[in-house]
Amino acid sequence: MLAPFSEILKTSKQLFDSFFESYTKELFSPNTRITEACLYSLRAGGKRIRPIFVLNSFFNSSNLPEEINLKDHKSVYLAALAVECIHTYSLIHDDLPAMDNDDTRRGLPTCHIQFDEATAILAGDTLNSISFYLLSLIEATDSNTIRDCIQILHAGAGIQGMILGQMEDIEEEKNPSSKDKESKLTSIHEKKTGALIEASFLLGNRLRPDWKERNSVISSYAKEIGLLFQITDDILDVEGNLEDLGKTPGKDAKAGKLTYPGLYGMDTAKRFKNESLEKAISLVTGVPSLNNEFFLGLPKYIAERKN
Ligand code: IPE
Ligand code: IPE
Ligand code: MG
Ligand code: MG
Ligand code: MG
Repeated sequence: MLAPFSEILKTSKQLFDSFFESYTKELFSPNTRITEACLYSLRAGGKRIRPIFVLNSFFNSSNLPEEINLKDHKSVYLAALAVECIHTYSLIHDDLPAMDNDDTRRGLPTCHIQFDEATAILAGDTLNSISFYLLSLIEATDSNTIRDCIQILHAGAGIQGMILGQMEDIEEEKNPSSKDKESKLTSIHEKKTGALIEASFLLGNRLRPDWKERNSVISSYAKEIGLLFQITDDILDVEGNLEDLGKTPGKDAKAGKLTYPGLYGMDTAKRFKNESLEKAISLVTGVPSLNNEFFLGLPKYIAERKN
């Protein structure tokens, strides 16, 4: 019998956490102020949703192992850790005074509050570069795999992906566009959040022998999940509370961010969220290798999450 979505989520998080604990000690050594800051933010307790995407894109929910098997699967865990490192760097920098100026993240003081700004900037830099190092350790039989993985991560996190989205988000806050705000908003969300989420799915898929035939549908599905994720993040910024979110609510409106509830109002933002949820489900329904509990259950989980 197939495990329900909640079980798959729990098992994949445990698999990642177990690799994380066994591997990061060696990776972040020697113990210095900078490795301390990296581990502080990494261990603060994120949902690990991007590593979970890497694992489930690779294993498919029906094939999830019960324990980590590094002999056969080390590469997929390295890729999962790479995306979590780059995501954590994006959060550390997103919270800096020059960006969103937040003092709480993952339920703890943000990196620059706990340490200081210079350390937080350097911890972000460290986590960024270490992600690409982790990909270099992938064990692959064909020489194109590592190159493709590096390019996938760069497309998600780099100048055409997350970094550009963050730049547009900040520019829009400082100098709001006077026209076509709808497409600007979609563009920001697709890049600042969607691109790294897409990269997570594509990395897991790229490590499979049959990656080519699944790539295009995984890419469309992941893009929709990315949009759904950020619409929900915008809604939670209005309706969530500090305890559930682990970050300060109400920041977007105060900063004048371009968001779904801000531009369309809450009712319409929720309608867009539901349309996106339905679209994501329809993209994988009936697709042989993706028509499973994880891919079908994920959109609802993303849309209904409280943090
Ligand atoms: C927060 O990401 C940043 C966004 C892209 C909205 P998550 O909601 O995945 O944050 P963590 O990793 O669980 O802390
Ligand atoms: C975050 O967008 C995107 C990245 C960190 C790349 P937000 O600024 O909305 O994320 P939160 O709400 O601070 O987590
Ligand atoms: Mg931001
Ligand atoms: Mg922010
Ligand atoms: Mg937000």
